[in-house]
Formats: sequence, structure tokens, C-alpha cells
Amino acid sequence: MVNLDTLLRQELEELKRHGLFRDMKRIDSMQGPIVVIDNREYVLFSSNNYLGLANHPEVIKAQVQASQEFGAGSCASRLISGNMFLHEKLEQKIADFKCTESAILFPAGYMANVGTISALVGEGDLVVCDKLNHASIIDGVRMSNAMLRVYPHRNLERLEDILKNASGYKRRLIITDGVFSMDGDIAPLPEIIKISQRFNAILMLDDAHATGVLGKTGKGTCEYFGIDKGVDIQMGTFSKAFGNLGGFIAGPLSLIEYIRNRARSFIYSTALPPAIVGGCIKAIEIAERGTDLRERLWSNVSRLRDALVGLDFDIMDTKTQIIPVSTGDVSSTMKASESLLNNGIYAPGIRPPTVPKNKCRIRVSLMATHSNDHIDRAIEAFRKIRS
Ligand SMILES: Cc1ncc(COP(=O)(O)O)c(C=O)c1O
Repeated sequence: MVNLDTLLRQELEELKRHGLFRDMKRIDSMQGPIVVIDNREYVLFSSNNYLGLANHPEVIKAQVQASQEFGAGSCASRLISGNMFLHEKLEQKIADFKCTESAILFPAGYMANVGTISALVGEGDLVVCDKLNHASIIDGVRMSNAMLRVYPHRNLERLEDILKNASGYKRRLIITDGVFSMDGDIAPLPEIIKISQRFNAILMLDDAHATGVLGKTGKGTCEYFGIDKGVDIQMGTFSKAFGNLGGFIAGPLSLIEYIRNRARSFIYSTALPPAIVGGCIKAIEIAERGTDLRERLWSNVSRLRDALVGLDFDIMDTKTQIIPVSTGDVSSTMKASESLLNNGIYAPGIRPPTVPKNKCRIRVSLMATHSNDHIDRAIEAFRKIRS
């Protein structure tokens, strides 16, 4: 008989031996720039709450009002009886924001990716992915049974090579992140669009970390490059700059209707609760109505990025609010993270399997709500790691 406890303990011990065991810090406050952990205050530099909307009073108020009016839960999938006024209102807002014909909501970004990809492609089809695409994209391809080919990060020659030899497939789907979640760099989207057109491939963009942030009005990677066509499927999430929960796909009506009929993670899961949807509607409205939060975010990014470069840290090719600070192997990364913590800065080390063994890092992420003083405290803590 299998002794599950012994089996699992052996594997967990193995993880611990390699410094790869994961546990969680518990936050006892809101996810603002300052958080409370173990009764001590830290400046938070690891949240995806880029615009600070998770604690915006108007968002919180909208969330409370939505549950007062529509109740706590939606209590069924959208196709049964979970489709409420607020879901449709939010979908219209997403389509308007992304300048697409239509949009569809999922309970999470992860589910938007796995559901959409596995609905669109299957056996006999090819999916071509950047090496650093998010895990939810890879999981979607695995579920689909399509052939997966991966090109080295942002390497367009290799992307072309793969497509040159892909004539035997029924559908060809290229998928790229807009902003890469662990490196903070941006996909060369204009060139990828040209390649997708040359090889007659469908193009899907995961704009999880760009939505709300990139481009003058925060529409994401397309707006950043001044592109208004060429991307067939735009994926996004409310869990990053919008400070909430829920994923979405924006695109032509035919795509949205197809997903509604075919994406299992949409069909077989309960719709988002009204409070969340009400909060997301308000978050989009705030992100759209001015540029002040984005301006504050970019000014914070420059302040920290310039200082880290001045301290001779390798911050890779980041162009965004995600700043990877290279720390080498697992042990030096955990030491660096511990040192930051001792100096009041919370920015955990990122280790395998999230990043390769020799590419561990502190993934620093900035928020519009960080003050200059918060950033200067981080700079000081990084200076101590250097000395
Ligand atoms: C690039 C990317 N895509 C998709 C997701 C999944 O989104 P969510 O956290 O909303 O499920 C994430 C978040 O972890 C992400 O970083």
C-alpha cells in the first residue's frame, strides 16, 4: 500500500535541501505600499497593484454597493443563471477600453488563457510560444493537444524558422506576452504581427502586465506601439493594474461567441461575484479617466531604475514597472531577499521553477502609490546588499 504521507514528505525534504521549498508570508493589512507582516511594517515591492487601485476608496465603495444591490455571489455559470447586468456592463467596458468589437470575462486570467487556447486549437494545429510566456499559456496548449514549439525569448529569426517549417498544420497560433512577467521587457509586437501575417498565423497577445499601464491611456502593448490592428486575440486580467480579480479576452464578436460556446473554463465555472465585477468596472473607469496614476508610476520606475543602475545592479532589459534585479543562484538570492526584509523592504526572491537555476532574481515591482521616500528606502536597502 502506498504511504502518501511518507512519499510527499520525501519530496518536500528534497525541495528543502535545494532551497526550493515554498512557504508564504502572511500580510495582515491592505495591499498598499506599506504592509504589516509579523507586526512589523514593510514597504511592499512585489505587488502587481501597479496603479494602487486595490485600495482606491472609489473601487472599494463600488464593490460594497455592487454586493448590496446584487448580492454576494452569482451562484451559477454565466450560461445557466450567473449572467448578471454587471457582467455584461463590464464586458462592454473592456471592449470599449481595448477598442475591440466585443469581450468576454473569465473568473481569472489563468482561466482566460487555458480556456481560450484549448478551445481554439487541437490535434493537428501548431502553437508557437516565446520561451518566457506565462505558465497559463503553456498549460492551455498542453490541454489542447496541439503541437507546442517554443522560440528563444524575443528571437524573431527562430520564430520565423519554426513557421517556415509549419506548412503541415491546420491552424498556426502565435502567442506572446506583451510585458514579460519576470523580466519586465516588452515583446517586439510590430515585428511579430508582420511575421504572423506572412505565415498566415493567428496572433494572441497576453497583456496581463501591460493592461492599465502601457500606452498613454493604459490600453496596453498595442497602444504602446501605436498599433490598431494585427492582433487577433487580446487577453488581459483584472488582477494586476486593476487591483482585483478576473480575466478577459477582447476581440471580434465571432471570437467571443466561439469562446462562449467552446471554452470549458468559461462554461463550467461559476461567474465572478457582483462585488468583484462592480469593483472592476470602477477600476477601468479610474484608469481611463486620467493619466496621473500612470505618470506617477513611470516617475517611480525611473527613480528606482536609475538608482539600481547607478549601484551597478544588472536589471536585464526591463522597460516597465517590473524590475528584475539579478542575484545569481538560489542561495545568494535568498540572502539578498532576507537582507531587504531586515531593512524594511518586502521583495521576495524568485527561484526555479519560476526562473532558470542561474537566473534567480529579486523581482521588484513599482506602484503609483509608492512615495519618493518609499523608493529611497528601497535604494538604501539595495545599497547595503552591494556593500
Ligand atoms: C502574463 C500572465 N498571464 C496570465 C496570468 C494569470 O492571470 P491571473 O492571475 O488573473 O489568473 C498572469 C498572472 O499571474 C500573468 O503574469
